[in-house]
Amino acid sequence: MFGSSPFNPASPQEQVISHLFVVMLVILAGIFVLVAWLVTYNSVRYRHREGAAEPPQLFGHSTLEIVWTALPILLLAVIFVLTVQAMRRSDPATPERSPDIILIGHQWWWEVRYPQAGVITANEIHLPAGQGQLMELRAADVIHDFWVPQVGRKMDMIPGHPNRMWLDVTRPGTYLGACAEFCGAEHAWMRLRVLAESPDRFQNWLRQQQQVPVQPADGEAALGRRLYQQYTCGNCHAIRGTAQDRIQVAPDLTHLASRETLGAGALSNSPAHLAEWMRNPQAVKPACNMPDFHLNDRQVQQMVAYLETLR
Ligand code: CUA
Repeated sequence: MFGSSPFNPASPQEQVISHLFVVMLVILAGIFVLVAWLVTYNSVRYRHREGAAEPPQLFGHSTLEIVWTALPILLLAVIFVLTVQAMRRSDPATPERSPDIILIGHQWWWEVRYPQAGVITANEIHLPAGQGQLMELRAADVIHDFWVPQVGRKMDMIPGHPNRMWLDVTRPGTYLGACAEFCGAEHAWMRLRVLAESPDRFQNWLRQQQQVPVQPADGEAALGRRLYQQYTCGNCHAIRGTAQDRIQVAPDLTHLASRETLGAGALSNSPAHLAEWMRNPQAVKPACNMPDFHLNDRQVQQMVAYLETLR
């Protein structure tokens, strides 16, 4: 029922945050009910009546003043202690070893690296459920913010200052996230998904991502490949197994067709949507760094045929 909300935690860290949120909600609801009741009761009880005298006035009532000062202090102290506890438990210490996953925020997409496996993908983090992953957060341009409500705390991604956190998703599933720091025109289309899979499935995925796709030699796909070279797409995008396999200005396309979304969540990934994107990315995601190449229908078809071979 709660879907991708903090009420439906999928990690022990988020459990802590979710619990604190519920406790605070109950306390605040109690205060709201008390205040609402006092306001309503007193408005009725002491409302203006023709000829009635003013109700008795209380000045300098020390007991009352001590009580209404002490109670909020006590309440705030309780909330403070609970919050500090939750902050510690939701952000366990991270070791000084190389991270399992490096997540890099770009305007406006996410680069996801698996340094040990040599895999690079975009806009989705695959991980084995139940096996904590040490994640390093970086930013390529401006400040972004990692936030996937069901898997844990938010964390800023700051240029020149890597941050670290544990991603410890225990329940297999797909968890939706977004950039939570305003980072420019397409901040709203900087969506991220975390796919927690059984360790076997994750290993299969990782192996598949390590494969170098075979470059097509003939047919539409080969024509698309030639177009890709003519339009120098490789100046920004990398495809392993081609001459341009290093550059990381734009999403790595080595296994583009295996991903779930295009344009960091702007479109679900299908040949039709890929064609829409190729026809004019600026119509789908205005101001994104992917230019409109004014491809004609034929060229769009060839390009899609090529990109669809990148599985
Ligand atoms: Cu990246 Cu907002």
